[in-house]
Amino acid sequence: MTAIAPPRGTKDILPSESAAWRWLLDTHRRVVEGHGYQAIETPIFESTELFARGVGADTDIVEKQMFTFSDRGGRSLTLRPEGTAGVVRAVAGNRLDQEIRPLRVHYAGPFFRAERPQAGRQHQFTQIGIECIGDRSPELDVEVIEIANSFFAGLGITGLKLQINSLGTPDDRSTYRRALVDYYRPHRDELCDDCRRRLETNPLRLLDCKTDQRFVAGAPMIWDSLSEPSRVYFTAVQAGLEHAGVDGSVNPRLVRGLDYYTDTTFEFWHETLHGAQNALGGGGRYDGLAELLGLPATPGIGYALGVERTLIVARALGTAPGPAPACEVVVCALGPASTLTCAAVARTLRSAGVRTVLDASDRRLDRKLRNADRLGARVCVIVGDDEVAAGTAAIRDLRDRSQHTAPQARLEETILSLLETSG
Ligand code: HAM
Repeated sequence: MTAIAPPRGTKDILPSESAAWRWLLDTHRRVVEGHGYQAIETPIFESTELFARGVGADTDIVEKQMFTFSDRGGRSLTLRPEGTAGVVRAVAGNRLDQEIRPLRVHYAGPFFRAERPQAGRQHQFTQIGIECIGDRSPELDVEVIEIANSFFAGLGITGLKLQINSLGTPDDRSTYRRALVDYYRPHRDELCDDCRRRLETNPLRLLDCKTDQRFVAGAPMIWDSLSEPSRVYFTAVQAGLEHAGVDGSVNPRLVRGLDYYTDTTFEFWHETLHGAQNALGGGGRYDGLAELLGLPATPGIGYALGVERTLIVARALGTAPGPAPACEVVVCALGPASTLTCAAVARTLRSAGVRTVLDASDRRLDRKLRNADRLGARVCVIVGDDEVAAGTAAIRDLRDRSQHTAPQARLEETILSLLETSG
């Protein structure tokens, strides 16, 4: 029978990687909770309409990348390709932002996009993110960007390139869209098939095309289409970032792949990630999103960061922790007579807070010791028939291979002091 392979574009997170994952997720939680963000969880699948309306029917995500299926009642559902639309649905839908304004929430979990898999691009991937919902002010935009920056600093990631831009109001964007169409239309026949379509449906995406880059340099700038209030707002965001000591460059070509953005948008790039996958994360303001979802107008801003991509960078820079030991102590039973004694010893050690594995297998001692090394244990407690009879145990320090005997009644204190000194 052939072995079943994992689905395309998915990856197992193996035990050897779990310490690095935990480090990243704990660091994020610590930073965002330090700013008063509370955890929120929304369903992994939502009605397809949420993304069609929220993210935009003409975006690549909705047109090409969604995992969509019907439930038994024939309703169209989609595995969430991003988190903002679901969080806004939950927060604005429950009017939570009326009680606490703005409502600050954070999330972490799996997301799904059917993009061609490659390093840093998967069908199932993990995002961590925050959303600050219910208010609009440049200080909140600065807060959100500064938090992402502090998170990366907490991981020891250097060499980040923060790109920021403003897409202005929906009216500003319509002005810009017209300017882009006027610029691109004379080149229509030279554009790739995708871009010919984008020219009609979503002209901002023309700036993202990898094939038609030669036209991008001469394209009009969004800045020229921004209204005065949008410029004033963006200038205040830039001033706030400078004051916070957050380095960033204004990138007028940064349009992002989701249609809900207004005003401030940003991405964090790192050169370790190449080409299309160089964004570790991104976000922006989405003041019109709630209304697109049929909810009362509710401004908001947030970001999402890719965990897999961030780990690629942290590993390349050597800041991610390696595998963590599975336990501190392995208790090895040698022979059936010692199994119950060993189980009791293991229980005592665990209740003293020592991470302990019981090895009651019938393997030879040298195999058990090798296994204990692989588990990362620092101490082995060995009990055979002689030790059972004498009420003792052999204690082997796996660091220096020294071994001595101790009475079973005093094992706990002996081991605790050994772990402390070798620690
Ligand atoms: P996004 O830029 O589409 O934004 O995704 C954020 C990050 O998720 C990307 O920068 C990348 O690190 C990671 N990511 C996206 N697709 C994949 C993939 N196929 N494989 C691996 N990683 C991936 C959003 O999703 C918005 N919801 C961000 C936001 C929050 N805006 C406002 N609030």
